[in-house]
Amino acid sequence: MSTKKIAVVGGDGIGPEVTKQAVVLLERLREKKGLPIEMWELDLGADRYLRDGTTFPKEISDQIRTECAAVLLGAMGDPRVPGLEHARDILFGMRFGYDLYANVRPVKALSDRLIPLKGRTAKDVDFIVFRENTEGVYVGFGGQFKKGTPDEIGINEDVNTRKGVERIIRAAFEWAKKNDKKRVCMADKSNAMTFAHELWLRTFREVAKEYAGIEARHVYVDALCLYMIQDPTQFDVIVTNNLFGDIVTDLGAALQGGLGMAASANVHASDGSRVAMFEPVHGSAPPLAGKDLANPFAAFLSAGMLLTHLGFTGYEATIERIVSAALDEGKCTKDVGGELGTRAAAAWVIERVVSEA
Ligand SMILES: NC(=O)c1ccc[n+]([C@@H]2O[C@H](COP(=O)([O-])OP(=O)(O)OC[C@H]3O[C@@H](n4cnc5c(N)ncnc54)[C@H](O)[C@@H]3O)[C@@H](O)[C@H]2O)c1
Repeated sequence: MSTKKIAVVGGDGIGPEVTKQAVVLLERLREKKGLPIEMWELDLGADRYLRDGTTFPKEISDQIRTECAAVLLGAMGDPRVPGLEHARDILFGMRFGYDLYANVRPVKALSDRLIPLKGRTAKDVDFIVFRENTEGVYVGFGGQFKKGTPDEIGINEDVNTRKGVERIIRAAFEWAKKNDKKRVCMADKSNAMTFAHELWLRTFREVAKEYAGIEARHVYVDALCLYMIQDPTQFDVIVTNNLFGDIVTDLGAALQGGLGMAASANVHASDGSRVAMFEPVHGSAPPLAGKDLANPFAAFLSAGMLLTHLGFTGYEATIERIVSAALDEGKCTKDVGGELGTRAAAAWVIERVVSEA
């Protein structure tokens, strides 16, 4: 197998701290198992933007697209850049620029101790969300009129194309088929958004016909939030639009034990040979930055998804198992009930993953 190049963008706030630990994990696995991977660390983020105005240069973007198999990203967002110009250019530059239309977010709990629902255990929280990643309100269509006056108007358009809707729904069904899951649930708000989300509902019903044996269920997104809390076992795969996916996956992260536990992949699902991007669901958590407080586990779990995507199977399951053990033994950061700092919690997991891999 030829060497797979992985671009690394730590980003802002806690991003570089947790990404650094994920890189150590990948490097140690490379050394021990001879994994054909090579890291390419990029100086991109708020510091760089404030230093010289650089956000996401075209030559870097092109180089990633043509030379890299994956990107490992930390988090973007810095209070010194209130307009988030750099974050938008880098994050959306990858998601939109590489057409990574599926934002795949497993909601899988790894410790009974972290489940916030009465009477539930970790095995009750195990589903995956496919969030549309290239359309919706995130395309930035809209504007403001009479800003700062009593008559001002603010508009953001919700953009939904047949192509965009169909391919994310199909990606959800394909994942269910490949992983022997029997239920796909699509969440929209077609009762209120009667044009845009009628397109979702109609497309969902049409695509579902191609997947006999998989139950296709439709719910309104408000009801989805209720059901996720009442009984998360009723879901295998959830597919939804960009905005609703953003919101319900934070709710999903709460079911897993918090944002420090939630991993994600951004992929062009119908062509696995294209560069894909892996990142924890959490943001840059500025108040935690530089204090050795950030939970590195979401970054580890994202690195596990990256290895699976590159064809290195088995490592993701080992990482999950060891993170689960760390949680059970309290070898973790404060947000998930431990006493360790970022570095110590990471070292505990890295040693065991490397010795058991
Ligand atoms: N993909 C991304 O890069 C991304 C995603 C979300 C938010 N953001 C940006 O991050 C910045 C902060 O946003 P926010 O505060 O709304 O979200 P956040 O995810 O940074 O933090 C939300 C809460 O979760 C906690 N948290 C998050 N990650 C944690 C970790 N690894 N360990 C322990 N606790 C953790 C934080 O302390 C905070 O209480 C903003 O600039 C926002 O735009 C970026």
